[in-house]
Amino acid sequence: MNKLLEIKNLNLSYKINNKSLQILKNVNIDLNYRESISVIGESGSGKTSLIMLIAGLEKFNSGELIFDGNNFKNLNEDELSDIRRKNIGIIFQSFFLLPNFTALENVNLTLEINNINNGLNKSKEILDKVGLKHRFNHYPSQLSGGEQQRVAIARSLVMKPKLILADEPTGNLDKINSSLISGILFEIVKDSGSSLILVTHDNKIANKAHKKIEINDGKII
Ligand SMILES: Nc1ncnc2c1ncn2[C@@H]1O[C@H](COP(=O)(O)OP(=O)(O)OP(=O)(O)O)[C@@H](O)[C@H]1O
Ligand SMILES: [Mg+2]
Repeated sequence: MNKLLEIKNLNLSYKINNKSLQILKNVNIDLNYRESISVIGESGSGKTSLIMLIAGLEKFNSGELIFDGNNFKNLNEDELSDIRRKNIGIIFQSFFLLPNFTALENVNLTLEINNINNGLNKSKEILDKVGLKHRFNHYPSQLSGGEQQRVAIARSLVMKPKLILADEPTGNLDKINSSLISGILFEIVKDSGSSLILVTHDNKIANKAHKKIEINDGKII
């Protein structure tokens, strides 16, 4: 098994007012272990929809999606969420940190949910890697936007998942923070041996990935 992800002729449509609206059209993607792919495309082209399918959070209509040897078509919700919890880290544009948990607690929660021993040390180590050694005990409201996104990156990577899905992770940040955060993301993904699918509007960031794909109106061009 040399591919982490194989997507073949994937189609997604939504029903709106009894009309079927096709969102993704015959999408094909191959992603190797430890490989990064960036996804660019106009607003509404289907990038987030694609991320949702790969995360197993949305069902496709036809085609194949095989992740780490698991054919998503044959899996139920529980099996999909089990795979997601153990093998997929997700980072969004809005950081979605828990407001009543400190930076350290937000990261550590992922390990607690997965019953991992020695979690606190692992959480501290990864927060240190994203440059937040001095912010362990800050709540999200006491962190800058860039710092919050670094916590979210640490949280998504603390389990060393096989795949990181990042949907415009720097969309809410200024230029300097964007380039800093994307640098940290690529570095830490490489360190942990994960693969990465990164949606971004920023061509400079997109060019840091091994491969770059563009979606236009639901099709890869
Ligand atoms: N649950 C839904 N039901 C119906 N249509 C949807 C649904 N989710 C998304 N869409 C439509 O699918 C299309 C693709 O949406 P998607 O969120 O994937 O775009 P995107 O490429 O991520 O855009 P952006 O860059 O603005 O985030 C849009 O036209 C959107 O309106
Ligand atoms: Mg989107």
